[in-house]
Amino acid sequence: MERLEHILESQQFSREWLENELFPLAAEMEKITATIKRTRTLAEKEMVSFFYEPSTRTRYYSELAMWRLGGNVIFSTENAKEFSSVAKGETIENTIRILCLGKPDIIVLRTDEEGMAKRAAEVSTAPIINAGDGKGQHPVQAMTDLFTIKKELMKIERRHLVITGDLARGRTARSLAYLAAKYPGIKISFVSPDAAKMGQDVKDYLKEHAVPFEEIRDIREVAPHGDVFYITRIQEERGQLLIKYGPPAFWGVNQEVLDLMKKDAIIMHPLPHKEEIAPEVDKDPRAVYFPQALNKLYVMMALLKMILK
Ligand code: CP
Repeated sequence: MERLEHILESQQFSREWLENELFPLAAEMEKITATIKRTRTLAEKEMVSFFYEPSTRTRYYSELAMWRLGGNVIFSTENAKEFSSVAKGETIENTIRILCLGKPDIIVLRTDEEGMAKRAAEVSTAPIINAGDGKGQHPVQAMTDLFTIKKELMKIERRHLVITGDLARGRTARSLAYLAAKYPGIKISFVSPDAAKMGQDVKDYLKEHAVPFEEIRDIREVAPHGDVFYITRIQEERGQLLIKYGPPAFWGVNQEVLDLMKKDAIIMHPLPHKEEIAPEVDKDPRAVYFPQALNKLYVMMALLKMILK
């Protein structure tokens, strides 16, 4: 098994690693978790969980993954800009240096600016897991997303992905596009308001890797064709008000879109969702975003085991 160090961006990983190492181990973690509450696999290993931005899923499932494997979360904060010395102006580099003096085995880090996870990794003596860096990337989410597609549809190859919402500022959409590009036959339709189009860096990468993609404004154009609908919200915390983009009907899922979609398509969302998912969608069997959220626990357990064992 390849030794993992920092997890910073999707481009680091190969399809072979996902298929032969991560996904089988995540599936094993899911099985173990069904019968054993806590193992001793990572007994005495220590995690720091340091979040500049709010989180429910990533923080909870990271800390739970460590606990389930017998390890300890020794220091955890949300809103580090208020509840840590970041509030006094301490840099990311010095924050990481101080954390590392305590010799943690791993640091799960969410920051509010693109590139901060890489800056942290440059000075860290512990592996860094990027749990989202501003509008940069969220690679663990992308691994979780592909693991979910594999579980739900059996294979990822040759799927038509419809990725919608605030693609300019949505790190989950960006990381998913980078990671899905590793699979042959993938096609991507990006659906967004004009002001929230996918970044040029992602589009250049897709071109370089011969992944066909298109950019459209109305999800109804591709609703009958997509295999995976990956819906995201407008990132209002980054100063982009939903109202600026008009009704989410153009990039969201409602009854009209459900009626157009294939019977075996799936609807995903990194969550939390807002108006872009109409209330009736939660009851549709094609909506898999709650199992998708839980899959992050199994992927995180697998990653922790790979990095720390
Ligand atoms: N998808 C995701 O990262 O959710 P949280 O912000 O709740 O961690």
